[in-house]
Amino acid sequence: MPHISLRQIRIFDSVSRYQSHTRAAEKLHMTQPAVSMQMKQLEKNLGIDLFERHGKILSLSSAGYELREYSKSILQTYNNMIGFAEKIKGCQTGHLAVSVATTANHFTSRILSSFSKKFPKVKVSLDVTNRQNILQQLQNYEPDVVIMGEPPKGLGLKSEKFMPNPLVIIAPPDHPLGKRKNLKLKDLKGEKFVVREKGSGTREAIERHFKEMGVCCATTLEMSSNEAIKHTVSAGFGLGIVSFHTIELELKNNDIIILDIDTFPLQRHWHLVTRTGKSMSPVAEAFRDYLLENAQEYVSHQSYPGKE
Ligand code: PGA
Repeated sequence: MPHISLRQIRIFDSVSRYQSHTRAAEKLHMTQPAVSMQMKQLEKNLGIDLFERHGKILSLSSAGYELREYSKSILQTYNNMIGFAEKIKGCQTGHLAVSVATTANHFTSRILSSFSKKFPKVKVSLDVTNRQNILQQLQNYEPDVVIMGEPPKGLGLKSEKFMPNPLVIIAPPDHPLGKRKNLKLKDLKGEKFVVREKGSGTREAIERHFKEMGVCCATTLEMSSNEAIKHTVSAGFGLGIVSFHTIELELKNNDIIILDIDTFPLQRHWHLVTRTGKSMSPVAEAFRDYLLENAQEYVSHQSYPGKE
């Protein structure tokens, strides 16, 4: 097998890009004779003419042209490998500040725990709060990474949508509407609702939807915790509206049921949000990649009424 070095590949790439030994030498901080010597050596080792000379003009031979594609991809892979090693090195230590919407905490804490097993020396701080507080934190450049519903436009935020967040209407298992199929929102008229506090993304989305549908919902109780909402509903107080991602256990234990309403699940999405202008540390980048790749594994894929 012919012996060729990464250095020769890099010089070849540069010479073929600039079609000149002199310019390639300048770019690589080498002398022109050293570049010429390396290219001669490469041609000899491969047993192929890589370049053609027409007077003073140097151009790639047809074989050189084909080989250039390989050299580009070798260098690209090499750069990716170095970048990855740098990232891992940067993740050996460091601090990661994550803020998540109250609702997202149901899957984020599990993701963070497996991320921490992978990067045990990284110190993680997690703040769980509602949408309004999170937006304030982002304005103050506080968290490295945020997980929330779609953020508003025009606040200097970068957001990546990564997973659906279906909102469902829950009821106690013995609720009279529990067995009815394809209910209309107006069939819930007169029902008592337990909902999230003002400032919650879930609450905002529900209010918008009820308004669009021209239905007025009687909010009797407001709570800042999804846990409290589930307990209240399961105790028979009334109906609740929560993210499907918060009720995996209660559904399994048959503590609550999901009502079959024609415009539900109300489809929202989870977003990974960062503040433009705040540079991402290697640890934050590693968490971002980990989340985008693995989030789906940390939520339930159980079926329920209205889910396709
Ligand atoms: P919430 O968050 O917990 O504030 O309702 C969900 C969201 O941002 O959509």
